[in-house]
Amino acid sequence: MKNRSLISISDYSKQEQIDLLDRAANFEQHPRRDILKNKVIASLFFEPSTRTRLSFESAVQQLGGSVVGFTSSDSSSVQKGESLKDTILTVSNYCDLIVIRHPVDGSARYASEVSPVPIINAGDGANQHPTQCLLDMYSIRKTQNKLENLDITFVGDLKYGRTVHSLIIALCQFNTRFHLVSPVELKLPSAVKRFIKEAKLHYEQYIDLTEVVAKSDIIYMTRIQRERFPDPIEYEKVKNAYNLRNNMLENSRPNLKILHPLPRVNEISVDVDSSSKAYYFEQARNGVFVRQALIASILGLIS
Ligand code: CP
Repeated sequence: MKNRSLISISDYSKQEQIDLLDRAANFEQHPRRDILKNKVIASLFFEPSTRTRLSFESAVQQLGGSVVGFTSSDSSSVQKGESLKDTILTVSNYCDLIVIRHPVDGSARYASEVSPVPIINAGDGANQHPTQCLLDMYSIRKTQNKLENLDITFVGDLKYGRTVHSLIIALCQFNTRFHLVSPVELKLPSAVKRFIKEAKLHYEQYIDLTEVVAKSDIIYMTRIQRERFPDPIEYEKVKNAYNLRNNMLENSRPNLKILHPLPRVNEISVDVDSSSKAYYFEQARNGVFVRQALIASILGLIS
């Protein structure tokens, strides 16, 4: 992984992904050490973020490194018309590695093609979110004690959900049974379904979430993302499609865990938060350890 960008989850092999999860488990035991002393990480967020940006920054600071960057294009020279290429070439003079979130699909790949320092994709449009994928895999393995042979249910915006796309591609390596719950308008894109078919795995599509709760090991809820809809009227039609409530979990499997990349709006009722099956805030915490493992691996500071 040394000096290699992470743009799509499939940039790293299955073994490399598992190695990162193992290293993250070690960081969870010992998150504070000085291995990033004298290292500078650039954090370029052209789109809003709470978890990804702050967990990256916390990960770096707990390892003794420094962070430079911006939290919106408004506070950078992009506002004056500077191109992404010029921004990356300039920022790469100031840092050892760049973390980038950008609203345009493919922008992180483009950044990696022009950058002299490694790039980590922190989410590009509706395309990919590979570090979220790694922390989701970490959370699944931690709660189920395995990644293989699970029933995993994805709910909500499967069309524009970059976290969904990355995680489904990764789970194709683990003999997953996929349950896909969405409004007709937000079905999983055929480009992602192709990964499931190529892995010779099975998926079922549903509109009604109640049909699938009892046969799930993981329910991965997602927000219907207003910002991704070209037409606001289309968003209005589906925005309240799902609302998971505590009483819907009565016949669920004992090992069920509910994940959500967050932020949530109304798709999980707050009465689920006190359930032992709710795992979304612990999931967000796991992001620190996975990102520590990833940065240290790319910078060649652990093997
Ligand atoms: N999961 C996630 O990407 O959250 P943020 O948008 O808050 O970073």
